[in-house]
Formats: sequence, structure tokens, C-alpha cells
Amino acid sequence: MNSMYSLRCVYNIHLKYILKYHVLRYKSNHSCKQEFIVYDQLMQKRRLQSKRSVLVQVCSENSCSDLYKYCSEFGGIKNMFHYQLAGTNHFVLTEFEDQTAVDALLNDSAHIEDSNVIAVRSPFLWFRSSSSKKTKLIMNNDMVQPFKVNEIMIEPNIKTIQFNKVESLSSQMMLLLESIQLNDIGSRLRFLTAIQIENALKGIFPLSKVLPFGSSVNSFGKIGSDIDLVLTNDKTNINKSSRLIYHGKCMSNNSRTQTQRHIELLGDLLQLFLPGCSKVKRISQAKVPIVKYSQDFVGVECDLTVSNETAVRMSELLYIFGCFDYRVRPLVFTIKMWAQQVNITNDTPGRWITNFSLTLLVLFYLQQENIIPPIQTLVKLAGSNDVHITDDGVNCTFLRDITKYSHKQTNSKSLEQLLLGFFEYFAAYDFNTNAISLNFGTVVAKPEYSALYIVNPLEVHFNVSKNVSPEELERFRIELRNAAWVIDSSIHSQNTLQLFDIFKSIEISKNIKKQNIFNYEYQTNTSNRLVTVKDLFVEDEHNKRLNTQLKNSKERKI
Ligand code: GTP
Ligand code: MG
Repeated sequence: MNSMYSLRCVYNIHLKYILKYHVLRYKSNHSCKQEFIVYDQLMQKRRLQSKRSVLVQVCSENSCSDLYKYCSEFGGIKNMFHYQLAGTNHFVLTEFEDQTAVDALLNDSAHIEDSNVIAVRSPFLWFRSSSSKKTKLIMNNDMVQPFKVNEIMIEPNIKTIQFNKVESLSSQMMLLLESIQLNDIGSRLRFLTAIQIENALKGIFPLSKVLPFGSSVNSFGKIGSDIDLVLTNDKTNINKSSRLIYHGKCMSNNSRTQTQRHIELLGDLLQLFLPGCSKVKRISQAKVPIVKYSQDFVGVECDLTVSNETAVRMSELLYIFGCFDYRVRPLVFTIKMWAQQVNITNDTPGRWITNFSLTLLVLFYLQQENIIPPIQTLVKLAGSNDVHITDDGVNCTFLRDITKYSHKQTNSKSLEQLLLGFFEYFAAYDFNTNAISLNFGTVVAKPEYSALYIVNPLEVHFNVSKNVSPEELERFRIELRNAAWVIDSSIHSQNTLQLFDIFKSIEISKNIKKQNIFNYEYQTNTSNRLVTVKDLFVEDEHNKRLNTQLKNSKERKI
């Protein structure tokens, strides 16, 4: 109870701070191009940061200074972030100046003297009380102690965000972004979670590299978003001049079966040996086989996949779009939150629209508004350093340094106008005949029947929203119309609008307003909308066959 109370206090301080400063930032932050870091450089920076870091469980925030003194014996400390997860779990993420300090600290750290516990080397440790003979500390009050206490690691409940303290809808959208977007500590811990698995595999598989992708790195992530991880082979530092080559085993011809077996093996490794990894589930029959698990020290769900390089490049593409204009992120966050609140998205796989597809729809709409360019433009501007083709032949060549893209922004619409514009655009959109192509930034004819067709930006013969059923698309359309109607009627009646008014599904809106222009049987119960991963896979094979037929017939025509 006490810890819940203290967590609530932390949120309130956090939200008040945001409230005070976000309007200022909103006014000045009309472009984030000055702060732009090329994606690969950002990944490299975060990876090095996590290699210089360890996560230590402590009794309470009072242990911070003791831990600081203890850790300082191994090298200079750059940052210490304290956070608390629900319950009494306190953690300190400690970043050293240099990676050698982490190596020294890990070499010196002890394993539990219990034959039931398998000793494992990982960046996750706990700090035992000072009665241990190891702790001979020199007190020095002049030491600079770089503590950041009570960092936010649990996403604030949307109901606690004080939208009513901010007047315009545009400002409320900025407030939403600032309140729930992934913060620095969250980002650091996501990379540390990846390093834990990478280090565990490195001894036997020296080229292993584990990278976060998806919303953890594409700039559209929330504090509570899952961590998507991919295990890859880093072949950049292979010594090409050596005459001695390691023997190795060939992969089997059936790469899918091979991937499924790797997933099973990774699942075992996580479940049996790696600290903090719990609730491990191997989903090897899905289109992209994954291991799902929970990293308890970070308090986040993780999805680990193998050799999914295209997904990493997709994250880069979204990251680039997120940096194009200050309005992109708040609009994506608002639409994702709206979709969650009105129950058209769901955390489990199903026939509903995913957050990924939704993000692509927002980006497509912003292309219609000329706020971001079509992907084709980024492809045309690509230099020789931007050429990137994945191992399985997917061309991921596009301009990566957007500071080289010169474009005068002529669209000065407010976030509120864009939000209404998004709802109106897709409420009137002809989903029956049109597919969405971010590559051209225009609608194209649907190549095959799918309720919703969004051309996969990197693998253009695939539809990223093939899972969406006609019924779910209809629900989506109805909610779009309802949201547009709510905003529109507030403009006409000159009533002040709150984001919460838009976050109400049509059923609730109907009850409140006692009238609505729609007559629609609304399904709020999700249980009959769930499908199994296996069903999705069957559908996927079917679509793949259709796509191959289509591709072959096109090629024959040429
Ligand atoms: P969150 O809901 O915040 O986790 O958003 P997310 O973008 O991380 O979505 P998710 O965890 O479902 O997927 C992670 C990444 O996998 C996405 O960012 C995409 O790059 C990729 N992805 C997800 N769904 C699809 C899909 O249907 N098709 C393709 N090609 N890629 C997908
Ligand atoms: Mg994700």
C-alpha cells in the first residue's frame, strides 16, 4: 500500500513537471532536425552505454550512496538511476565511465553459494548488506554523487494525466506524448535487456548481436511498450586476412524449421538460466517464430525473434519519419491511445488493426498533408552509404541522414486540425478498392482482396494489415466517424474539448449524448474476436500464395 502510494506521488511530481514545461517546449519545438541522430549512430551509442552499465537490486533508495561508494572502487561512475517497480523491488542502473570498470566489477562479483542455483554471468546483480567482509569503504563526502532517484518506470495511468489543466487540444496531445513516451532510463534498460541475452550467447556464438527494434527504438514507444528483440549475426568485424578459419556447422536447408528449433533452444536458455526472465513462452508456429518472456528486473514484456533484419530496418524508417516534424509523434501517440481506449486495438494477436498498421496509416495521412515525404523521395536521395540489402535480399536503401533533405515546410496546421483531418480522411476512405502505399505516398489499386491493404514499405508484395477482418475494419471506420463527429460538433458548438471526450467509444458517446448519427451494433466483448496464432499463420500462407501468384502473373505480363 505504502509503495503504491509513493509510486503515485512520483507520478504526480512527474506529471506536474511535464505540465509546467511542455507548453514551452511545444511552442519552441517546431522541428527536431537539429537534434537528429542517424539511427545506426543512436543504436551504437545506446549499445555502448549499456555495455558500460550494470543493474543492481538494492533494499531501498537509501542504499544508493553505499552502492555508489562500493562501485566507485572499480572505476568512475557517470550516472546512477534509481527506480522502483510495484512491490518492494528497488533497482539502481549504474553507468560507468568506461567498460573496463564493468568487467572488473563482474570479475569481482560473487555467485550464490547454493548448489541449486546455476551460476551465470549477467549485468543483473544484487547488493548484499555491508556486514560482508568485502565491503571496506572509504567515506569521502566530497564525492559527486550522480543519483537520479525515483525514475519513472511504470507508465502513468492515462486517467491521472491532467488534460483539463491545458487548454487546447493540441497542447493536450503534446502533454500525452510527454507523459507516456519512453524515457531515457526506459531506453537504457531496453538495451541492457538485449545485452543480457547477447552476453549469454557470446561464449559459444561469438558473432551474436541482440538488438531492440519496434517501438523501443522507432521513437513511437511508450514507457510500458513491450521490448521487441532480434538475435542477429554481426559479421562486420570478421578478419578477412586470417588463414585459420573456425570450423562450423551448416544450417539445415529448411530455414523455417531451423528458426523454430533455435527459438525452442533460446526459450530453454531464458527459462533455465537467465536471471529475471520468467513466463517464457515459445511461439514457434507463428509467421515470425518468437520467444515471449517477461524481464522482471525491468518490469517489461519481451518478444525475442531471430534473423528479422527487415524489422530492424523498418524501425529505422519509422524513426526517420518520427524525426521529420514535431507533429508526427504526438499525432501517432494520440491515435494509438485513442485506438486502445475505444477498443479497436488489443495487445493479443487477432483480426484487429495493430499499432504498427495504425502508425503507418498516420504516416500516410501526413504524406497527404505534405508534412513528410513519400519513401520514394528518400530512396532517390540515398547516397552510397545508405545502400543496404538484407541477407535475404530485401532492399532497404533510403536516405538515412534527414538533415540532407531540404524541404520548406508549408503546412502549418495545428495538431488539433491534423487529428480531425486524420479521422475525416480515413472515415471517408474507400477501403474496398484502394490500398495504401507509403512508398508512393498515394493510394494504389488493391492487388488482392483483403479488408485493409497497406503495402509493406520494404517488402512491397506483402500487406502488413492482412490480419484485419471486414468486421474489425467496419468497427474501425465507425469509431473514426464518431471521433470526427465529436471534434466537429465541439468546434461548431464552441465547447472546449478534452482528449478524454475523443477517447470514448461510440457506445459511451451514445449514452452520454443520447443521440448519435450511427445505428451500429457495437461489440465490446473481445473474447469472440480472439484468434489463435496458428489461425493467423494459415491465413498468412494463403495470402503468400495469392501474392506469389500475383507476382508471377505480373512478371509474365512484362
Ligand atoms: P507497440 O504496440 O508499442 O509494441 O508497437 P510496435 O511498433 O513495437 O509493434 P509490435 O511490437 O507489434 O511490432 C514490432 C515491430 O515488428 C514493428 O514495429 C514492425 O517493425 C514489425 N511488425 C509488427 N507487425 C508487423 C506486420 O504485421 N508486418 C510486418 N511486416 N512487420 C510487422
Ligand atoms: Mg513492440
